[in-house]
Amino acid sequence: MTTRKYHIDQMISAKAIAARIEALADEIKAEFDDTPKLVVVGLLRGSFVFIADLVRELDLPVEVDFIEASSYGDSTESSREVRILKDLRGQIAGRDVLIVEDIVDTGHTLSAVSEYLTARHPARMKTIALLDKPARREVDFKADWIGFEIPDEFVVGYGIDFAQRNRNLPYIGSVKFDDDEG
Ligand code: IMP
Repeated sequence: MTTRKYHIDQMISAKAIAARIEALADEIKAEFDDTPKLVVVGLLRGSFVFIADLVRELDLPVEVDFIEASSYGDSTESSREVRILKDLRGQIAGRDVLIVEDIVDTGHTLSAVSEYLTARHPARMKTIALLDKPARREVDFKADWIGFEIPDEFVVGYGIDFAQRNRNLPYIGSVKFDDDEG
């Protein structure tokens, strides 16, 4: 838990997020239009708000499942190791899968989870991330759909936390440390 004081500047409004999700849902529907049922896999915990809004815009038969991987501690620094903390409940072999992530930062998490789930031989698998920080990339990975490309700033809100705080903000905000300014 941080002891540094910070404030949050709004970066992406709730309204802009909602509009973008509508457009993304149309593209996903077009891609998976013939699916018997799409397995929408949320990466816990940061994607829980995004997946809730996304599936409600998605005019397709869906099943929702979750997986939890960790590459982050309670700090703004990424560690390289990706561990699976909680696996899917359902089977995905031969099925259509959409992996839903909050942010692609270094790229380690989504690339490792994609690889992990590809080994189960889904029929089709695609990835979507609400946010992308291309400046921070360490592995060559690009999600199939991105909500917003953002600069190299630490963000919170809309499900995304800083040391387990601020997940409940309805918008995406940038964390500004008060002792950094002046
Ligand atoms: P990656 O493995 O470096 O791509 O990191 C992905 C994960 O790091 C995301 O799912 C987030 O949980 C976390 N993360 C990356 N950037 C931020 C941020 O700006 N705020 C909060 N969490 C972040």
